[in-house]
Amino acid sequence: MAAKHTRLELTWIGKDERPRLEPRILLEDQDLSYHSKARVARGDIYDNILIQGDNLLALKALEREYTGRIKCIYIDPPYNTGSAFEHYDDGVEHSLWLSLMRCRLEILWSLLREDGSIWISIDDYEMPYLRVMLDEICGRSSFVASNVWQKRYSRENREAIGDVHEYIIVYAKNPMLFKASRNKVPQTPKQLEVYKNPNNDPRGRWRPIPMTAQAGHATAAQFYEITSPSGKKFIPPEGRCWGMAESTFERLRTEGRIYFGKRGDSQPNVIRYLSEVEGYAPWTWWPSDEVGHTDQAKKEIHALFGRQQAFDTPKPESLMKRILDIATNPGDLVLDSFAGTGTTGAVAHKMHRQWIMVELGDHCRTHICTRLRKVIDAIDSGGVTNDCNWKGGGGFRYYRLAPSLLDKDKWGNWVVSKQYKPEMLAEAMCKLEGFRYAPDPEVFWIHGQSTETDLIYVTTQNLSHEQLQFISNQVGDERTLLICCSAFRAKPDAFANLTIKKIPQAVLHRCEWGRDDYSLIVKALPGSEPEADQAEEGSSEDIPAADSTTDAVTPSPARRRGRPRRQSSTMQELPLFANFDQAGDA
Ligand SMILES: C[S@@+](CC[C@H](N)C(=O)[O-])C[C@H]1O[C@@H](n2cnc3c(N)ncnc32)[C@H](O)[C@@H]1O
Repeated sequence: MAAKHTRLELTWIGKDERPRLEPRILLEDQDLSYHSKARVARGDIYDNILIQGDNLLALKALEREYTGRIKCIYIDPPYNTGSAFEHYDDGVEHSLWLSLMRCRLEILWSLLREDGSIWISIDDYEMPYLRVMLDEICGRSSFVASNVWQKRYSRENREAIGDVHEYIIVYAKNPMLFKASRNKVPQTPKQLEVYKNPNNDPRGRWRPIPMTAQAGHATAAQFYEITSPSGKKFIPPEGRCWGMAESTFERLRTEGRIYFGKRGDSQPNVIRYLSEVEGYAPWTWWPSDEVGHTDQAKKEIHALFGRQQAFDTPKPESLMKRILDIATNPGDLVLDSFAGTGTTGAVAHKMHRQWIMVELGDHCRTHICTRLRKVIDAIDSGGVTNDCNWKGGGGFRYYRLAPSLLDKDKWGNWVVSKQYKPEMLAEAMCKLEGFRYAPDPEVFWIHGQSTETDLIYVTTQNLSHEQLQFISNQVGDERTLLICCSAFRAKPDAFANLTIKKIPQAVLHRCEWGRDDYSLIVKALPGSEPEADQAEEGSSEDIPAADSTTDAVTPSPARRRGRPRRQSSTMQELPLFANFDQAGDA
């Protein structure tokens, strides 16, 4: 009998499989970190983080320190369109895409602050599935909006119905709190152009606002006759009323805030001064003339890197500014784990927000690093630089993920990797055991703490009973210590204030070791038959080499163009997370 479904859910092949992630430590590459030579403003932020590596491992690495701390997450993942772009391969099949996104989104969601929100760019192909999956991860009541971004302004004539939009889906940890704390959208310079000052009004630029409203809910006080300075009489047109009671109108007239046109004989308008404009409540329609379009984004990238170093799918800076304007304030922490060319970080930096970005590709170094250096040195005059009145300053640190803590030796046993220096081992063990790495310069056996009185000591030594006794005496009755060592010669429960574990045995089954690639880059899918016409359009040189678990298959032209595509017939056999059980084998 078929299993009973007890809830509404999206299922897909491999949904029940989950990677058991190793919480890696991060290693700074000081040659690529960058800080401005001098402080430019009081709000300069130096603690920004750029991580090159797979974002699933990177998010796992950030999890302990940043859970509940991020104000705004923006991601622009590969859309699973099937096109092979120059800098990354977007051709991941449907179920696989959902699985890979799900584990990333779960960690991302946990990183958000109570008043935080996550914003996700996506197109029509995966949007409905992503929405349902997000409902499951975040809770349906956390959904805020599905914004429609007009990504192009010219007609797309090649399709049956031209595709001109994408979505930016928003979920908030606590939608009520988000609503109360989100910002209004500032008027764009173009919208502000309608404010003029033809009469040199000392109160500054202004615009006339029509004074009538729909008569539906009007009170009697909203129907009256108005006489203009020229003596012309006005009453509201049929079905309309004045937008205010007569007493309010008279007060505004005395204050010089009613405008009857140049000759004083037109319909009355209320004067609104630019200085009173607050911005407007965001809505879900984001037209390209307000937030930019893909063409503008490409031009911004060309201006930064030249045409040779272009990138296929950047977002315009003004689009990012719109998101950060709504969702953040200066000093807030912003995260983008599919950073691309670093638009999110560049805009966050110019807006005095703190940022964390993760990017897998080498463009992390060639593009993001270069771009952020230009922002810091104030030699990037493009994008939103002028809107933000950006003058440079601040900095960032460049990190890579440490290699896996455990390596297999020549007999196939898991051992601590030779690449781990003692301080790296201590930091890694702190992460694995849930301690904050904070070595005490005075006390050799304190490497970190989980609470003020619960400490950790990590060593590769073989500790004798005497050494343990000495440490136990120092720890005393008020504190407890976890000791992680290679071996020890004493009864494990001989000291009430010590817990002693052996490395690596104590952590062998915690997670999967030695796995570096959880990327969305799937070079080829097993079992997909090359299509007859592929040889013409898709030369195998376009496609990265197959990894050891898959056979290389050149994507069909249909797949390279995106849609429509055929379903892979062998998805059931696809190992979504290769080596999933390897920790158990050891
Ligand atoms: C659409 S682009 C983002 C563009 C970005 N919004 C911008 O304005 O430049 C998606 C990026 O995600 C990166 N990416 C894909 N899989 C990743 C992974 N597993 N870890 C980190 N980055 C990844 C790709 O290399 C690519 O640069």
